Amino acid sequence: MTISPERVAGVEARAGKFPGPSLIPALNAIQARLGWLPREELEELAREVRRPRYEIEGLISFYPHFRTTPPKKVQLSVCHDLSCWLRSGDDRIAEIKAKYGQDTDVELVEVSCLGRCDVAPAAAVNEHPTPVSEVDNLVTSARGEGVGHASASRRAEPWPNDPYPAGYGVAERYKSLRAFLAGEISAESIVATLKDSGLRGMGGAGFPTGQKWGLVAAAQPGTVKYAICNADESEPGTFKDRQILADQPHLVLEGLLLGMAVVGAEEGWVFIRHEYGPEEHVLREEIAALREAGVIGADACGSGKRLQLDIFVSPGGYILGEETALLECMEGHRGEPRNKPPFPGNYGLHGRPTLINSVETFADVPVILQRGAEWWAEQGVGESVGWKFFAVSGHVQNPGVYCVPMGTTVRELIDTAGGVLDGAEVGAVQPGGASSNFIGPDQLDLQLDFGTLAKAGTMLGSGALVVLAEGTDLLAASTNVLRFFRNESCGKCVPCRVGSTKAHTLLRGVLDSGSTLDEAQRGKILQLEEAMRKTSICGLGQVALGPVVSVLGLDKGGGSGTSAAQAGRIEGTARTLSGREFFTTRTVAEALAGFRPAHRTGVEEVALSAALHRVPAADILSPQALPGFAKSTVDGFAVRAADTYGASEGLPSYLDLIGSVRMGEAPTVSVKPGGLRRDADRWRGSRRRRRGRHGRVHGRDHARNDRGDKAGGAGWRHRPCR
Ligand SMILES: Cc1cc2nc3c(=O)[nH]c(=O)nc-3n(C[C@H](O)[C@H](O)[C@H](O)COP(=O)(O)O)c2cc1C
Ligand code: SF4
Ligand code: FES
Repeated sequence: MTISPERVAGVEARAGKFPGPSLIPALNAIQARLGWLPREELEELAREVRRPRYEIEGLISFYPHFRTTPPKKVQLSVCHDLSCWLRSGDDRIAEIKAKYGQDTDVELVEVSCLGRCDVAPAAAVNEHPTPVSEVDNLVTSARGEGVGHASASRRAEPWPNDPYPAGYGVAERYKSLRAFLAGEISAESIVATLKDSGLRGMGGAGFPTGQKWGLVAAAQPGTVKYAICNADESEPGTFKDRQILADQPHLVLEGLLLGMAVVGAEEGWVFIRHEYGPEEHVLREEIAALREAGVIGADACGSGKRLQLDIFVSPGGYILGEETALLECMEGHRGEPRNKPPFPGNYGLHGRPTLINSVETFADVPVILQRGAEWWAEQGVGESVGWKFFAVSGHVQNPGVYCVPMGTTVRELIDTAGGVLDGAEVGAVQPGGASSNFIGPDQLDLQLDFGTLAKAGTMLGSGALVVLAEGTDLLAASTNVLRFFRNESCGKCVPCRVGSTKAHTLLRGVLDSGSTLDEAQRGKILQLEEAMRKTSICGLGQVALGPVVSVLGLDKGGGSGTSAAQAGRIEGTARTLSGREFFTTRTVAEALAGFRPAHRTGVEEVALSAALHRVPAADILSPQALPGFAKSTVDGFAVRAADTYGASEGLPSYLDLIGSVRMGEAPTVSVKPGGLRRDADRWRGSRRRRRGRHGRVHGRDHARNDRGDKAGGAGWRHRPCR
């Protein structure tokens, strides 16, 4: 039986989401032009693209970068995550708050990792990244002539992995791509070379790259495919992709183009976090040079093949680095991870097979193809293969990005970064970014590679080594990490959303009271960790409590380290705990017995004289002429309750009758004096018609309180929710 893309398992869950081009680039453009998203612009956008306002509201409310109020003159964001916290970030934040907290020109926000952990504590003024020490100067500039554009910080010497000598341009680089397009090497041989090289994905999961390319190449032959470079790195301590993008855009793009060519994709994107503006600029210049040289375009290198590259700027949020959340975002939905399977290689962007690799993985591909799988394997230490970029931060003398042979030990990498700050001893290390479990000072001779770290109960993760000096409060450090995950949880699944909040509240209480965790509290943390690890949809929830658990074997105050044996003991304890129920379970019958249709959550009453722009909930016998009922709660576009996911969470609305408006058009029903408007019948009739045409029903609702005032809505009353 042939399975069409629409029948792939998991597709059902996405039914009802809006088709059509993503609105995120348009929202990005408005915000870039005006600094925020004014209501009038959103209404115009909705009309232009014939999409409902509530869809747009749903997007905006998900993505932290979008703002619906005008910015102040100075946007000051200060990072409060681990690497910055370790460099006295909290003290600097307190000083900044004392100085600018009441300043009417300044909007001060604490934010998650800015990807500038090498200059920790890090901040950004009007999106211009900076160490906190430079904030005053930038604030002064922002009040005056502006902060200007930041340029990417680039390394003077070439990196040891680069097969192309310094000074080469587009004409001399992209050799493997040219060879492929000229028919000198085949897709099969590229996949075979990648398999031989032992290259694994550097985005965290470590999936074998050759195998992934082979799978996507073989998926659904003849169909449209896509390739995406994941440049969303946002995990505290992780900034090596930023450096690779700045210094080796040619390798990243050649890898991406090779990926496209091998799997049969004509279109490829770099999905980049919006805080990487300087690096985005570098990429755009390289893409322009590729176009200019005819390496990409309708006839790439004269091969007759079409290869197009573009950049998709993320509207914010760590979760978008998760590949299916990234796809949801690119499709123009809220960036919530999908259930897997199906995996993106089979069912990716717009349901098409999609190759997704991280920045470093793509950059490694041309290195391997130019220098050979054998050469690559020889670069690693012992059984490890290749070069590896690490971001090193925290309590080290020289935080920064280092490219070392895979298999280098933790101790050697710390030494390469100048050793521990002020000659202190190591207290603990997070070897693979915020998701990785802490290891102790007795584990510094561990080799940094996938297998060794996994055996030791931690992971290579995102290639971010964060060093904590002896005496650092490890419980506080791991609670800081947990706060990051709690803040960045997309909220789609309960274990992650609730579990991370519960655990953080518990730990924060312990830290604030200056006490230590008692046995019951340890048990609770272990219970939550187990529930989250086993039942969360995506990696965020699955690992969020791991770092905390990894330090539970330590005395608060640090020093003794967590060994693999300790980590095992902790997990063993978790397994033997009794009474670890996290949710009450019900039979289907019990669940259905408790099921009620959606509730009306905010039906307002309004005097007819003030009914302008509202869609009535009941029949109206009008004593006077009434103008058109042009608007519903979600701004003039009739919707049904189920479609208000997101918008309905934020708005006191309930859409219980179906509007007769066309998508993107306001209704223009008016009522003559003495006229009767039988809404229910009319709308129900139109509901049937509309369901047939669009596969979804458009309803209506009642105006928001805040809009009631604008439309002269005196007399608004809320009925309590049923
Ligand atoms: C919460 C979360 C965040 C992630 N963030 C990133 C990221 O910023 N960059 C990245 O390449 N992969 C990230 N990943 C992994 C991606 O889902 C995916 O596995 C990866 O991009 C595949 O590329 P690779 O095979 O080259 O590693 C993240 C995963 C999770 C669960
Ligand atoms: S685990 Fe957390 S971040 Fe991942 S889908 Fe669930 S709620 Fe969202
Ligand atoms: S910039 Fe602060 S933790 Fe990364």
